[in-house]
Amino acid sequence: MLIIDGKKVSLDLKNELKASVDKCKTITGNVPGLTIIIVGQDPASQGYVRNKAKTCKEIGMISTVIEMPVETTEKDLIETIEALNHDPAVHGILVQLPLPKQIDEFTATLAVDPSKDVDGFHPENLGRLVMGHLDKCFISCTPYGILELLGRYSIETKGKHCVVVGRSNLVGKAMANLMLQKHEAANCTVTICHSATQNISFYTRQADILIVAIGKAGFITADMVKAGAVVIDVGINRIEDPTAKNGYRLVGDVDYEGVSGVASAMTPVPGGVGPMTIAMLLKNTLLSFQRLNNL
Ligand SMILES: NC(=O)c1ccc[n+]([C@@H]2O[C@H](COP(=O)([O-])OP(=O)(O)OC[C@H]3O[C@@H](n4cnc5c(N)ncnc54)[C@H](OP(=O)(O)O)[C@@H]3O)[C@@H](O)[C@H]2O)c1
Repeated sequence: MLIIDGKKVSLDLKNELKASVDKCKTITGNVPGLTIIIVGQDPASQGYVRNKAKTCKEIGMISTVIEMPVETTEKDLIETIEALNHDPAVHGILVQLPLPKQIDEFTATLAVDPSKDVDGFHPENLGRLVMGHLDKCFISCTPYGILELLGRYSIETKGKHCVVVGRSNLVGKAMANLMLQKHEAANCTVTICHSATQNISFYTRQADILIVAIGKAGFITADMVKAGAVVIDVGINRIEDPTAKNGYRLVGDVDYEGVSGVASAMTPVPGGVGPMTIAMLLKNTLLSFQRLNNL
């Protein structure tokens, strides 16, 4: 079975992006800038933000983190976002989710200028994706990373049956719509499954490409997968492991051991989709800089 190595591909991609950032600097004297807003002190979110900011700097981009207190009002957050919308040194704006309960996440998403929405969460960007204008939108980073992996591993997608399990706005819905597009790493027949789907294995067993994003450790077992299928595991789940240094380890939504005996190719967790998500955030930030500078 082929292991689809997101860690390696993301490193290759980051090297390519670094070269492009250097080129931007030579041409314009400036580099792309990403500003991340984090509200509150959720340790997991703080970790994600640190990682995003560090990776940005590694490839020569400017990254700024705005830390706002947990009691921040929706109005204050929106004002901060609007100031960034008008700041020419900011090419990408990312509002780290989740937000405290007094702030409506959709309102915050709508406040980000779509031309700086490098997360691809704004309805204008998702709408353009659905309409097939992939070169005129930001594709949300996790689905975009999966598309990139499929492309770089030359996985045949045209006319294949892609089954996406999970329909979140963040992953499943964008993913399914992306695989539907007449794009060289997509062009699939698509089925979407969710928590109300009856007899889910009836669908998953028909998948040539199975993409799973539900947040349930080891949910997809070998008997649910067609022989030779390509399996993309988006899930990141913490399970207790007394032998691990911090008492837990990360696993995906797919039973890796079992399914690796059936699938022809598969992403591991960790080291599959996860590292690609950050790499695509950087790619989108570069893209935003290029568009805003007419490069
Ligand atoms: N690798 C990465 O970079 C990355 C990025 C984002 C997310 N993730 C991970 O991906 C997983 C999913 O994330 P998310 O944000 O999409 O989660 P989410 O918002 O909780 O959505 C989960 C989706 O899975 C569906 N679902 C839940 N249980 C199911 C079941 N038993 N059978 C079928 N469908 C079921 C839900 O259906 P309903 O709509 O019917 O409730 C929902 O559509 C999580 O583990 C998350 O940590 C990874």
